[in-house]
Amino acid sequence: MLCLGIETSCDETALALVRDGEPAGSVLVSQADIHTLFGGVVPELASREHCRYIGPLFDELVRRSGIKPGEIDVVSVARGPGLLGSLLVGVAFAKALALGLEAKFLGVNHLHAHLLAAGIEHDFDFPVLGLLVSGGHTHLYRIQGITDFKQMGKTLDDAAGEAFDKVGKMLGLPYPCGGIMNALAVAGAADPHLFPRPCVRNDSLDFSFSGLKTAALNFLGRYPELLESARHIESPAQAPDILKNFCASFNLAVVDTICAKTHRALDACPDLHTLLFAGGVASNTLLREDLSELMRGREGRALSPSPALCTDNAVMIAYAAWLLAEKKFRHSLRMESIPRGRPIPNDMIAEKRRGAA
Ligand code: KG4
Ligand code: ZN
Repeated sequence: MLCLGIETSCDETALALVRDGEPAGSVLVSQADIHTLFGGVVPELASREHCRYIGPLFDELVRRSGIKPGEIDVVSVARGPGLLGSLLVGVAFAKALALGLEAKFLGVNHLHAHLLAAGIEHDFDFPVLGLLVSGGHTHLYRIQGITDFKQMGKTLDDAAGEAFDKVGKMLGLPYPCGGIMNALAVAGAADPHLFPRPCVRNDSLDFSFSGLKTAALNFLGRYPELLESARHIESPAQAPDILKNFCASFNLAVVDTICAKTHRALDACPDLHTLLFAGGVASNTLLREDLSELMRGREGRALSPSPALCTDNAVMIAYAAWLLAEKKFRHSLRMESIPRGRPIPNDMIAEKRRGAA
């Protein structure tokens, strides 16, 4: 079965093919260069860029992978959560393509797709604990199966990636800031007492990173030389120690907080021995090390997609669609895009399997 995946939920326009569960080609254009001029994603610009790129990218994918469009069995698309204008571009394109190619149509939950992508490179059985750490979301799920995600915890304010982006923006670093802050942190020495571990002294599984962001802002206010030091960085390793140590301390506070909540979620579900973690922040060096160690200590496994599949991409959409289509799920062309903050309805159509009553 050949599945096309389309991803336009934020600022990446991406299309990919998955054939029988194996990636079979992908193309991606990032708009980071445009949005960095404004210090964050500008929704109107994002939608326009998606419109500009989506058609040519489809042609490019077909050309590079050597398939004929008529071979596509399933056209899938990230239906949400995300920026509504951006989602609408991908969804409208996907519906038109499915209609024209007489292919099945599937709308995929972008958050679930991030976590299910761990299955591209790893074997595991459900149930598992899922930790999604991206620019817009920090969620803990108990995952019973590909359509059964029970949310155990969520962020009450900023997501983990958003905290990196906002503190990086205060430093004047280019958006998105998580990758560069990670590189500076790796080269620095963390002071574990510099920043608080927000929201850990309670029994909740929810996250809150806005207090940590404010603590970082207050610290920057007291040390203006830090801001000055971030002006001209040739390379992270050669950046001034004051900047590297600040990033290492902030990074440690975020990672410690995520690990504390993950530990607590596992204590609440002693039957879970596998952790899936994904989303842009899942490519963070310290987070990967600490979650692996945490799971080793519990005689379990921490599995994550490789870094290129952690940030937004269309392979994860096509792969999730393949898993769903294998179970005979599809959507009608009436399916709606769902913006961030609204629950995604369970409105897939389950086709009767041959021979089933
Ligand atoms: O999953 P993603 O590509 O997009 C969303 O769905 O939000 O995540 C992007 C986020 C950004 O906030 C970016 O700063 C952060 O992931 N990020 C990182 C790293 N790489 C990307 N944060 C920490 N460490 C990294 N290495
Ligand atoms: Zn994402």
